Amino acid sequence: MRTFLPFAAAALFTMSLGLPAPAQAPPAATLTIQADKPLHPVSPMLYGMMTEEINYSYDGGLYAEMVRNRSFTERGFGGIHHWELENQGTAQSTMRYDNETGPSDALPGSMVVNVTAADAKNPAAVRNEGWWGMKVEPNTTYTGSVYARAENGGGSMAVSLVNDVTGKSAASATLSPLSTEWKQYTFTLHTGAVAASTDNQLVLSLPQVGKVWLQVVSLFPPTYKNRANGNRADLMQLLAGMHPKFLRLPGGNYLEGDQIDERFDWKNTLGPLANRPTHRSPWNYQSTDGMGLLEFLEWTEDLNIEPVLAVYAGYSLKGDHINAGPALTPYVDDAMDELEFVTGGADTKWGAVRAKLGHPAPFPLHYVEVGNEDEFDKALTYEGRFAQFNKAIKAKYPSLQVIATMPLKRTVPDVVDDHYYKRAEEFFALLHKYDSMPRTGPKIFVGEWATREGSPTTNMGAALGDAAFMTSLERNSDLIVMASYAPLLVNVNPGGMQWESDLIGYNAASSYGSPSYYAQALFAEYLGTEVTTAALSGASDRVFTSVTRDPSKGALYVKLVNASTEPQEVKVSIAGSHVRSSATLWSLHGATRAETNSITDPKRIVPVKSTVKVGDSFRHMVPPLSVEVMILDAKS
Ligand code: AHR
Repeated sequence: MRTFLPFAAAALFTMSLGLPAPAQAPPAATLTIQADKPLHPVSPMLYGMMTEEINYSYDGGLYAEMVRNRSFTERGFGGIHHWELENQGTAQSTMRYDNETGPSDALPGSMVVNVTAADAKNPAAVRNEGWWGMKVEPNTTYTGSVYARAENGGGSMAVSLVNDVTGKSAASATLSPLSTEWKQYTFTLHTGAVAASTDNQLVLSLPQVGKVWLQVVSLFPPTYKNRANGNRADLMQLLAGMHPKFLRLPGGNYLEGDQIDERFDWKNTLGPLANRPTHRSPWNYQSTDGMGLLEFLEWTEDLNIEPVLAVYAGYSLKGDHINAGPALTPYVDDAMDELEFVTGGADTKWGAVRAKLGHPAPFPLHYVEVGNEDEFDKALTYEGRFAQFNKAIKAKYPSLQVIATMPLKRTVPDVVDDHYYKRAEEFFALLHKYDSMPRTGPKIFVGEWATREGSPTTNMGAALGDAAFMTSLERNSDLIVMASYAPLLVNVNPGGMQWESDLIGYNAASSYGSPSYYAQALFAEYLGTEVTTAALSGASDRVFTSVTRDPSKGALYVKLVNASTEPQEVKVSIAGSHVRSSATLWSLHGATRAETNSITDPKRIVPVKSTVKVGDSFRHMVPPLSVEVMILDAKS
């Protein structure tokens, strides 16, 4: 368990860093709470998540596929990326991409392995290195599949998980007989008492001469809730720990693509993996689209949350756009099909497609976003594009809340999406922006925001900026209906990150939450249903608070953020409720703003639980660089 440095020790520590010694502790501040005077309800959807394919978030991240470049779409002068020949003994073979034959219209090419010498003792083979390794654990069943076609029917192919260091196979399966026609082979690999490691590769071995074509080579570990084509359990558990209410999907820039034909074209992400052509993401790598629209929706179902669906709105990042009018109609129709796929009954055209894919029940949907960051459209076409989408959506789904990605002059959208990527001090300066905003216009969705300090994941200084910002989100949650931190995920391997300062980091072996993650988790878990009248006075200008209450639980949640380097004593007085004498206190604290969690030190900064003495009136010392949540039993 962590302990806090007492003030004197903190001063000594500060001096040892060569920083000026803190002056005397500042005078006590006063926090006056009127527990029986709610200001307004807290938005029931306030905290959620934003996601897209960036930083190897799905491929090489949440989406549990272990084989990298399974469809051979990433190729260059060096050949097919992430695949090597692994000929044994006297075996001879070559491999190359053959664009003449593939198992589907979506994947018309394949890898051809041309074996010119091989036998049972000397098989020819190819191997895949995985996503910076492949995690293999003892007594575990891995589920795989591969499309194959052989020049000469009747031969076999062995599939094995092989340790890079020892060369030993942890598990193996034989696929036989190979057909001369394209066919999908499925297999399981069951490990025994092997040591857990990520130094593994998948090896496909051919003990006979002849050409064999391969496509969609796939291997999954056990997934969260045992979903086929599912997600990594450790990452889903971290996401569940954020207590989110929604998932904004599928982006972000990833929705738009650099070019129109690189947008998230949802119809190309459905069904068997061989039906998904894959596409280039604007973050400069190929997306397998294994995380397709249905998988996104199942992700929300598994966390018992709602999707906030962003539909492509006719603008891509490099400036290509479609003007409102007849040219935009096919894109509006496509969005309408998408809404039907998500929400329609199995008796509708697209609801029936969803049912055929195994999900007859519609998904809940209350918010749809038209585009992403359309303020970057230099041709200024968003007014017209939004109006056309909005009209069609409202005509069929009058109660759906339609989100615009920027303020508009001619149409009043239900909600406007605001994005903030800032340093902590910049967040402190805009904490009152929403306090004075008129409540007569559209509601606000803070669809992307983060304090960008620390890399690859954010540090304690960022967590303080985040927590300070969240106090303003809660205070203004009559106007701000939803907020989602971004980006959510980063693969911390070299080359894994395209965007610095992310919430959750991982490699093939493990994952961890940043201090910002824990601030998010605390704020979302301990959130009342109404904002309580509360006034903080006499505090440092880097001390922030939010007070909410859930009358049905008799709980009062007092959040205190001390982003200064000095402790802050607070005299708390609570009127309008009977407060029990002890409360639970969660405290997240860093010795410095730069202190952080990492893949090798994942739990350096985590919330610490304690019990504190409270009452109708009490004093509480908030340590420097701390985010605190006090849960008081305060019945009316
Ligand atoms: O979150 C990273 C990127 O920031 C998003 O893709 C985009 O919407 C924003 O500019």
